[in-house]
Amino acid sequence: MRCMSDDHTHVQEFFSARAADWDRRFPDDGPAYAAAVAELGLREGGRVLDAGCGTGRALPALRAAVGPSGVVLGADLTPAMLREAARAGRDRDGTLLLTDVAALPLRSSSLDAVFAAGLIAHLPQPGENLREIRRVVRRGGVLALFHPIGRAALAARQGRVLTPDDLRAEPNLRALLTGAGWRMTSYADEDTRFLALAVRDA
Ligand SMILES: C[S@@+](CC[C@H](N)C(=O)[O-])C[C@H]1O[C@@H](n2cnc3c(N)ncnc32)[C@H](O)[C@@H]1O
Repeated sequence: MRCMSDDHTHVQEFFSARAADWDRRFPDDGPAYAAAVAELGLREGGRVLDAGCGTGRALPALRAAVGPSGVVLGADLTPAMLREAARAGRDRDGTLLLTDVAALPLRSSSLDAVFAAGLIAHLPQPGENLREIRRVVRRGGVLALFHPIGRAALAARQGRVLTPDDLRAEPNLRALLTGAGWRMTSYADEDTRFLALAVRDA
């Protein structure tokens, strides 16, 4: 059995090895991130967290959405990814936090929204972790689970076959979100993007 720290070490090793090349591998994703961020419905002065922000690819769009008076946070477990975010100047768009999303150093109900790109498949306990993310979002706040490629295309790229127990299959994800106190409001799984939106229930 793997313990939590094994999972953390695995994630950190995996992404540390990829951090320096991360942005070069996916140079054309910017517009897809901006379009997904637009669906959060953020307003000037809003407060948003990018959970598993990596090199901070979403941070410029999040900052543009909330403006200079807003709060943008980027949280990640892998120091090397955050170093690349800072090297790319994205620490000017948001405050970078080295932290596990399983235990966020944030006040309850303090955010309007959470954006999480490519995160959920790496969480050891997705239900519990989505509940912790819910804790920091106000009632009526929004969660976006995004990937700039659809499930089938990603599986093909990774040489996997999609199976019905896939975490992000619509019925599985809906049940997972419901169990964690979220209500899924839209689900799109297309070749060029995956985007599930959910609202924090009362
Ligand atoms: C596939 S990458 C996506 C990075 C970025 N969101 C993007 O779209 O380019 C997943 C990121 O999630 C981070 N991560 C995985 N598990 C995490 C956890 N429990 N807490 C915080 N970050 C985590 C990894 O370190 C990695 O940077």
